[in-house]
Amino acid sequence: MNDMTLTERALEATEIKFAARDVQVYYGTSRAIKDVNIDILDKTVTAFIGPSGCGKSTFLRCLNRMNDTIDVCRVEGDILLDGEDIYDKKVDPVQLRAKVGMVFQKPNPFPKSIYDNVAYGPKIHGLTRNKAELDEVVESSLRKAALWNEVKDRLDSPGTGLSGGQQQRLCIARAVATSPEVLLMDEPCSALDPIATAQVEELIDELRGNFSVVIVTHSMQQAARVSQRTAFFHLGNLVELGDTTQIFTNPKDPRTESYITGRIG
Ligand SMILES: Nc1ncnc2c1ncn2[C@@H]1O[C@H](COP(=O)(O)OP(=O)(O)OP(=O)(O)O)[C@@H](O)[C@H]1O
Ligand SMILES: [Mg+2]
Repeated sequence: MNDMTLTERALEATEIKFAARDVQVYYGTSRAIKDVNIDILDKTVTAFIGPSGCGKSTFLRCLNRMNDTIDVCRVEGDILLDGEDIYDKKVDPVQLRAKVGMVFQKPNPFPKSIYDNVAYGPKIHGLTRNKAELDEVVESSLRKAALWNEVKDRLDSPGTGLSGGQQQRLCIARAVATSPEVLLMDEPCSALDPIATAQVEELIDELRGNFSVVIVTHSMQQAARVSQRTAFFHLGNLVELGDTTQIFTNPKDPRTESYITGRIG
């Protein structure tokens, strides 16, 4: 069929990692996410874009049940990971979050050493057999996050003593250390300089070989550089989802067009 879009072809060829159906999210009585339906593909980077307050972080947090930690927050609808309902009673949110890792906008290292920040996940999930293996995971994770060279001589210093941008890369290292299947990144580069940003974007591209990545970003350039699919959110609605090139060159919805051309936001 010639009139199949790239996305439809990708959908046929690529496994669906997350399927979200009729998702609503409430904070108390106010509804922050309205009827969202989306498939998030494996081995693909999906960018979430949209004006401040439109629900990007809220929806992202549904995907690893981080909203469970917010008392007033209620999630309705179905979210399936590899066909399994992640909100099922038998799902352990801690295990889920090892599979679906997250990097937050504000770096939040544990009050532990640099080494222990990265070793924490592999340790609690029993992913390594001995100290040598753990050392290896810590080093390779810090290398992936483009931080190794800056910290290799002070792995025992506190993670909170690093600069903001270094702390963010430490959190990225911590998230990749458990080899998650999905990595959720909420504006991961907003505290980074252009060099570290480029390194993180390179990492995202590398991760895509094996994982599914979802990145929230306010930078259209970044969305265009790193993602293959883009979802535009507006006032709690998922307005449009498509190939990144299509969204940026030929948006179907006037709200998407206004946003990408800078008329709303
Ligand atoms: N913990 C919370 N309690 C109550 N309301 C919240 C909470 N977190 C978010 N909201 C509300 O939900 C809506 C969506 O917020 P969200 O943080 O998801 O937006 P966003 O698209 O990530 O914005 P930004 O680009 O500024 O990060 C907003 O109206 C916000 O005020
Ligand atoms: Mg946000």
